[in-house]
Amino acid sequence: MDKFIINGGKKLSGTVKVSGAKNSSLAIMPATLLNNGKNVLTNTPEVNDIFTMIKLLKHLGVKAEFNNHTLELDTTDIISQEAPYDHVKKMRASVYVLGPLLAKYGYAKVSLPGGCAWGPRPINLHLEAMKKLGAEIELEGGYIIAKAKKLKGANIHFDISSVGATGNVLMAAVLAEGSTTISNAAIEPEIVQLADFLKDMGAQIEGIGTSTLKIEGVNELHPANVRTISDRIEAGTLLIAGALTRSKITLDYIDHEHINSVLWKLEDSGAKICKDNNLVTINAEGLSIKNVDVTTAIYPGFPTDMQAQWTAFMCLAEGVSSVTDNIYLDRFKHVPELNRLGADIEVRNNTAVVQGGRKLLGAKVMSTDLRASASLVLAGLAAKGETEVLRIYHIDRGYQRIEEKLQALGADIKRVPGTEF
Ligand code: EPU
Repeated sequence: MDKFIINGGKKLSGTVKVSGAKNSSLAIMPATLLNNGKNVLTNTPEVNDIFTMIKLLKHLGVKAEFNNHTLELDTTDIISQEAPYDHVKKMRASVYVLGPLLAKYGYAKVSLPGGCAWGPRPINLHLEAMKKLGAEIELEGGYIIAKAKKLKGANIHFDISSVGATGNVLMAAVLAEGSTTISNAAIEPEIVQLADFLKDMGAQIEGIGTSTLKIEGVNELHPANVRTISDRIEAGTLLIAGALTRSKITLDYIDHEHINSVLWKLEDSGAKICKDNNLVTINAEGLSIKNVDVTTAIYPGFPTDMQAQWTAFMCLAEGVSSVTDNIYLDRFKHVPELNRLGADIEVRNNTAVVQGGRKLLGAKVMSTDLRASASLVLAGLAAKGETEVLRIYHIDRGYQRIEEKLQALGADIKRVPGTEF
């Protein structure tokens, strides 16, 4: 298994381009199952979760070509409506095929995703909403078996705002008979892009970007093309790399407003942010990092997917800070690993209490999930001496060759193939 070896303490400089958003592509790709023909998705990130989704779509009969971030998906000859355990266990987002398969083919058999690396992540909201649309749902042998001759529009209120449930139901409702209203819908940029893509396919959706979506079902949808938005979490992670190495770096990143919550917190820490057309520059040269509390929330709040990285950053701040995760209460697997690097963090319920002013020292640490591994790489960039980050297949799920981006900025990080677990 590959690992990273990082020699920390190097200042970063220069400009780096942010890749396309993994979580946008992961929603758009299964949406193509709703049409028949060739869809072209540009700016698709080359990350392992995308390769996993391609494998799943191929299993269903989709013809896929992926070259230089352009992904062509031809959905003309679908041969299966089953997402097997082997695919779903690798990536929970596989459950996104449920809505489109059910709506288009009247049947879907999708493995239940089970637990995830940091705790329970239920899909009850997806299933309850499908039932409201008239689907018959059974759970059998670890699989969701969903059937419906024709889905029927319904009023669906989500008690919790869920990215995945909103996306899945949206993909089901666009081909349902009649009107559907989704209230307390997710308004994350990835869901907005999914809804826009569905509209480009011929779907009738109103209220895009608001928490109430009104959908008028249509009989069929046609293929469409889309350029994936930039990855706001990769952007936030790289900005923190600049901040905790007290550097000045620039991101080539188009969708500024998607990361305002992170930019504002970075400004609170004392870093200077400058936005200019498609560039965002952070200047943290000579910075005494102020302690800044964060609490994660649904968009446009501070993203849970930036919580681990912020925790790493706050280890270097002047005082004590608290980092609370209200989306995933157990998402703190990175904390013991950061403590191995010399951090002093205690988890109290769903809050990490971070003692600032720590001198981080290189050590061997283990990635446990995608964002946890990003936090370890960040801490390694700031730590004195050598840090080895093991099990970096986690980071490869969602960051496109992160070491190359950091190297381009001047970091001393290398990928070492290895057998060590
Ligand atoms: N929830 C339920 N029941 C459900 C669905 C969700 O209780 O049926 C709860 C969850 O447990 C959580 C909250 O609702 O407390 C929000 O979860 P959500 O459904 O929004 O998350 P998701 O769709 O499973 C996506 C991203 C995650 C990101 C979350 C939150 C994708 C493929 N995944 O997951 O991304 O953390 O939204 O923003 O879009 C990542 O990229 O590292 C990642 C984990």
